[in-house]
Amino acid sequence: MADTTSQSNSESRLWGGRFASGPSPAMARLSRSTHFDWKLAPYDLMQTKAHAQILERAGLLSQDESRSVVLALDTLASQVASGEFTPNEDDEDVHSAVERGLISLLGELGGKLRAGRSRNDQVATDFKLYLRDHAQQIAGEIIGLQEAFLDQANENILTYSPGFTHLQHAQPVSFAHELAKHVHALGRDLERLSDWDSRAARSPLGAGALAGSSLGLDPELVAGALGFHSALGNSIDAVSDRDWAAEFLFVGAMIGVHLSRIGEEVILMASREFAWAQLDDAWSTGSSIMPQKKNPDIAELARGKSGRLIGNLTGLLATLKGLPFGYNRDLQEDKEPVFDTVEQLLVLLPAMTGMIKTLKFNTELMTKSAPAGFALATDIAEWLVREGVPFRNAHEIAGACVQVAEERDCELWDLTDEELTRISSHLNSQVRDVLNIEGALNSRDAFGGTAPVRVREQLQVLSELIGAERVRWMG
Ligand code: ARG
Repeated sequence: MADTTSQSNSESRLWGGRFASGPSPAMARLSRSTHFDWKLAPYDLMQTKAHAQILERAGLLSQDESRSVVLALDTLASQVASGEFTPNEDDEDVHSAVERGLISLLGELGGKLRAGRSRNDQVATDFKLYLRDHAQQIAGEIIGLQEAFLDQANENILTYSPGFTHLQHAQPVSFAHELAKHVHALGRDLERLSDWDSRAARSPLGAGALAGSSLGLDPELVAGALGFHSALGNSIDAVSDRDWAAEFLFVGAMIGVHLSRIGEEVILMASREFAWAQLDDAWSTGSSIMPQKKNPDIAELARGKSGRLIGNLTGLLATLKGLPFGYNRDLQEDKEPVFDTVEQLLVLLPAMTGMIKTLKFNTELMTKSAPAGFALATDIAEWLVREGVPFRNAHEIAGACVQVAEERDCELWDLTDEELTRISSHLNSQVRDVLNIEGALNSRDAFGGTAPVRVREQLQVLSELIGAERVRWMG
């Protein structure tokens, strides 16, 4: 049975004053968050350093005191980094542990740093600092994956492949076009991260518990010192807002969905039935029982993990729904889903990049099957439209060509001139110009289309965009 007797008041507890006894062990266990929020320790130290400067400006720390505090924070930061300083059983959360560490180095002076702050604004600030930092790492990994796709695309401008709708051969495309579509999707993820950051870059610090500070501290100043663009304009909103966490989880879930769809395509392409792609040994796994197997585990994990990334988003939204004014302890539940999304993406993205980079494509097979399955039927219809035939009739005529070819068990280009004119007087041997793969692709030369000239331009634009994103995220 759990021990329900109360503990004595602990050294590191931040709120003992009005309590005759400490919390019961079960209460303490429920309350404790150090097993996950310790990740915020470097950010809590960073924040405390900025805060010390603000306290000094407000005359609440002398220059000497502020200097000692900064030194102690540096010492503690290296002890945290080396694992020498860690939370103990009595620390409720990262903030309690950090304060205990400071007091052990500075004595009473360590207790001055809490002035003008509450854990409510402190935790939101740490968490935002963590997330803005990690969003940048995620962006860097996305860019790496975009580059892997772009390199493969540049090799495959003149590789033709069947393009699909409903997973049925639809129209032939340049395989580079197929690969480049993922660079666009990932580019939108980067845009979303940027947009997100512009809203996340507002600092909650200075909001205190909920009402702001009476100590003459300047929230705008500390915001700037921590790399935020500004301070939040309402102290109650500052401590209760977690839009930025939910929004980040949406961006993460969307990235996950993209990775899952990429994964699904790789799984199909690497199947024996498609046989379009071969996975590199280093980026696939074997089977413990079937010696011949080579499995697309990275792609499958991408597909699988997208489910949990979506779960992280819906979980947090459910936590937030119905929360009343100000800070509520429910908000402590915001961290684990966010940490999980960050960590999953940071292990998944590099593996995806390695897998894409090393995929070997069976370009001959793809090119051969590109026009198969009457994939050029639309080209007949569009040729007829250029000859002045209304599309409605052109569609019928092209359909009739498919019917005849199907009956004869041949491809569209095998139809004789007689057969063509028997189907429609509008058809003549010139339609053969589009009944070959080059003709069909070259004709789709509108902006955004699959004609190799357009694809070449597209890849150039993408390469410039990726370069700009590199500068934006990595300086
Ligand atoms: N550990 C809490 C959290 O993660 C912050 C502490 C605020 N607690 C409080 N009782 N005001 O949200």
